[in-house]
Amino acid sequence: MRKKIIAGNWKMHKTVREAEELVGSILKGLPETHYEVVVCPPFTALYRISQLLEGSRLKLGAQNMHYEIQGAFTGEISAPMLKELGVEYIILGHSERRHIFGESDEMISKKLRRAVETGLKPVLCVGEKLEERERGLTEKVIERQLVSALEGLSREDLDDLVVAYEPVWAIGTGKNATPEQAQEVHAFIRSKLSELLGEEFADSRTILYGGSVKPHNIYELTKEEDVDGALVGGASLSAESFLGIIEKAHK
Ligand code: PGA
Repeated sequence: MRKKIIAGNWKMHKTVREAEELVGSILKGLPETHYEVVVCPPFTALYRISQLLEGSRLKLGAQNMHYEIQGAFTGEISAPMLKELGVEYIILGHSERRHIFGESDEMISKKLRRAVETGLKPVLCVGEKLEERERGLTEKVIERQLVSALEGLSREDLDDLVVAYEPVWAIGTGKNATPEQAQEVHAFIRSKLSELLGEEFADSRTILYGGSVKPHNIYELTKEEDVDGALVGGASLSAESFLGIIEKAHK
């Protein structure tokens, strides 16, 4: 059975005080679920939230990291720094990192190696832009992103790899991919993983969908065979909608 995950990516939201409040409410309302539930607060709140999550079912993730362990990289955060705080998951290659901050496939590949080496569980984001979809390039783009990120890594290295399909046109737009569109790309990702690293590896991979996931659309999305959960942005910023998503996800 594949691991199911619902993860909240808070992006650049929440002061430490606000993060404490949100996590407090999530912990209070967290339903029984076979989904692993993860929150990814901004760096500044990780230390405090890590303390609050101790002994709970809620897991901690971070949104980005640098690929070097240390050095003259003003403003950056390294994998060991995150690991020390009790961070378990790391989002890599989010489209906002790729498209606003210019992260290349090569940088993401280096980050993935470092995450794996440090024992952080990578959530590798892939996804096409609207113009790429319209030109029929979706699979090509995703294949390139996957192949380049995973190159040179073995099945053992990637034991904890999670992939998130996040069509760029669906992120923060309120326009989610339809369940059929999501399933189609998820199945493609799984077949590529199978080609690259074998069928057993591919079958056991958790593949999340991200892009305008809300309580009202999560059920239909997670009902699809190859959709193993969600990476949630905007709707993870309030306990009510995040808990609503966890409750309504297909069991
Ligand atoms: P959204 O963001 O849910 O606000 O569309 C998803 C993401 O960027 O991970």
